[in-house]
Amino acid sequence: TLVLVLNGPNLSRLGKREPEVYGTSTYDDLARLCRTTAAEAGLTVDVRQTDSEAELIGWLHEAADGGHPVVLNPAAFTHYSYAVRDAVAMIKAPVIEVHLSNPGAREAFRHISVVTPVVTGTIAGLGVESYRHALLAVATLTR
Ligand code: DQA
Repeated sequence: TLVLVLNGPNLSRLGKREPEVYGTSTYDDLARLCRTTAAEAGLTVDVRQTDSEAELIGWLHEAADGGHPVVLNPAAFTHYSYAVRDAVAMIKAPVIEVHLSNPGAREAFRHISVVTPVVTGTIAGLGVESYRHALLAVATLTR
């Protein structure tokens, strides 16, 4: 099974971006963790990051058309992008929403996820380990 691991804006700056909130692992570390976990779980991953809402939506269309499960960190789009939400709603395969931090424990504007109502499940607050658990969930759900 090919799983698309899709990351939204500013996540390429992991490691140097507010490390007290997001941890010291870099984006390359995150991509490596995803590949290692996928190999262990019998999955293949394509790990991508974009700062562009349009590009992210294109990748979600690709998942919908290809029947690929998705691990999605929409980053700030989480809180306001109905376009990302509508694109996710077209995907029939499992979609796991992930966050490094626990948005529910942060500023009020992060308490709302417009994506949560259309995903299979959400894993948040575990740092890069959120992605590992999300991939293991996809493995279980697609078995
Ligand atoms: C995030 C949480 C969002 O609120 C924030 O805008 C991000 C990262 C996380 O992974 O913790 O960019 O999605």
